[in-house]
This record gives sequence, C-alpha cells and structure tokens, in this order.
Amino acid sequence: MRFVNRKGKLRVPTDALEVVMAALAASPKYVDVAPDLVRRLAVGEIAKRRTAKEATKATKEKLHQIGGAFLSPSLPYARWLADLRAAPDAVAQRAVCTAIMANHTSMRERLPFLTDFYAAIFADLPPIHSVLDVACGLHPLAALWMPLAPGAAYHASDIYGSMMGFLGEALGVLGIAGQTTWADASVTPPRTAVDLAFVLKALPTLEQLDRDAGRRLLLRIDARYLVVSFPRQSLGGRQKGMSAFYEAHFQELIVDQPWDVRRLTFPTELVFIIAKR
Ligand SMILES: C[S@@+](CC[C@H](N)C(=O)[O-])C[C@H]1O[C@@H](n2cnc3c(N)ncnc32)[C@H](O)[C@@H]1O
Repeated sequence: MRFVNRKGKLRVPTDALEVVMAALAASPKYVDVAPDLVRRLAVGEIAKRRTAKEATKATKEKLHQIGGAFLSPSLPYARWLADLRAAPDAVAQRAVCTAIMANHTSMRERLPFLTDFYAAIFADLPPIHSVLDVACGLHPLAALWMPLAPGAAYHASDIYGSMMGFLGEALGVLGIAGQTTWADASVTPPRTAVDLAFVLKALPTLEQLDRDAGRRLLLRIDARYLVVSFPRQSLGGRQKGMSAFYEAHFQELIVDQPWDVRRLTFPTELVFIIAKR
C-alpha cells in the first residue's frame, strides 16, 4: 500500500486511517490517549509509511516517546483512590501521594527535593489563588507541598483520559478545588486565566509534536507567572550537557518578550520563573 499518488501528492485513504485507529483503540496502552492527538499522529505516519501496519507501529512509537516512556507499566487508579480516601490525616495523604507520584519518571526524579523545590519557586511570589498545570503527568498530587493561598483552584491537563479522571477525583479527596482536562496542549493551549502556570519538563515533549508548540504555549497561557522547567538528565540518567542546551533553547524561545525571568537549578531540573504580567 502506498499513500502518495503518482504526482507525489499525499493521499491518506480513510480505510488506512480506520485500520490504524482500530489497532490503537484495541491496545490498552493507547486507547486512553486524547483521540485528536492519536488521529493527527496516525495521519502523519500513514503519509510516511508503506503500509497500515508500519504506520500503526510508528504511531505507537511516537505515543510511547511523548508519554508512555515516563509511566510505570501498571497504574492502578482505583486502588490509589481507595488509598487516598483511607488516609486518616495530612501526613498519611502525603505518604500515599509520594508513593503514587513515583510512578511517573518526571515526578519520581524530583521527589528527593520536593519541599525545597516549591519553597524556592514560591519564595518571591505573591499569594497564588489559581494554578494551571500543563502536560501535568502526576504533578498535581504535589499540590500538598505547595504554599498556595487557602482555597486555591488547581487546573491540570494531559493526554491520558483515565489519569485525568483519577487526578480530578484525587484533588477532590485532598480538598483541593479544580478541574482536570484531557487535551493536546501542542494544538490547543489551555485558556483558563490563572495566577501561576506550571509547564514542567513539557516543552521538549510538545516540541516533538510541533516545533513551534513551545513558543506558542508560553505566549498564549494566560498567567501572571509561568514556571517552566527542563530536565538536566535523560530518562536513562545521563547529563550530556542538557542544562546548557535547554538554557540556550529557553532564551531563544523568549528572546522577544519583555518578561522578567528568575532561574533556579535543582539536581535533575532547570527551572525558570517568568513574571508575565
Ligand atoms: C516529561 S513529562 C512531564 C510531566 C509533568 N509536567 C512533570 O514535570 O512532572 C511530559 C508530559 O507531557 C504529556 N504530554 C505529551 N504530549 C502532550 C500533549 N500533546 N499535550 C498535553 N500533554 C502531553 C505526557 O503525557 C507527560 O505526562
């Protein structure tokens, strides 16, 4: 099967797209990902591959790179919710959240310095009444460690439907107001106006989907403060000059903006706090 016609023009047959989408929907790992994103990736891969089978494999690889690679193979959301509900006090809730957060690599890497992380980030900020967490993974569970204003609302989004369902319920159990959304931030930046938005370790992932997604996101997010971070090491734990690379990349992204920027360094993460308005 070839997906270009004799003039070299792209022709994505509906049946090929149906085959790829059906194969992905049949896989427990991918059925849960935002459908518009899966469709967009599938269309792109069908255009580049010779058969629907090759396009399915390539789409799965892409979905793994942008999301699956960070997650533990088993995510028992119902049991986690039961554990949270059974936690008798704030100390026990923190212990349950810590155990859950260890199932996402980005979160697991920052667990050793969680208290210092938020103390440093929030040190010079006014009271924060609302938060947006873009491409959040399991980070919303760290809200318990954040010095937020009483009653602060927490809005979060990522591409996994069941993860967003779980986090929505978990925030309720923890007594935190807010909303979780199942959305592709590389196409539709969230529109909620907030005091502070987290874009933690997310830009390299989103830029794999669209080279301009990072710049677009930073410009469009409606927040007084943006907290943007980059990994200082690869998933395998190697440093390979990543801090210098991402620092230069970040400066390039914001070169035209009149924003004040504060920089913080943690063992595995480089953080920029932007005063946007
Ligand atoms: C490196 S992890 C960072 C997670 C979290 N921000 C943190 O630092 O703990 C990247 C996250 O981006 C999410 N993601 C990937 N593509 C996305 C997209 N198009 N829209 C929204 N989230 C996406 C993944 O599911 C994953 O949770």
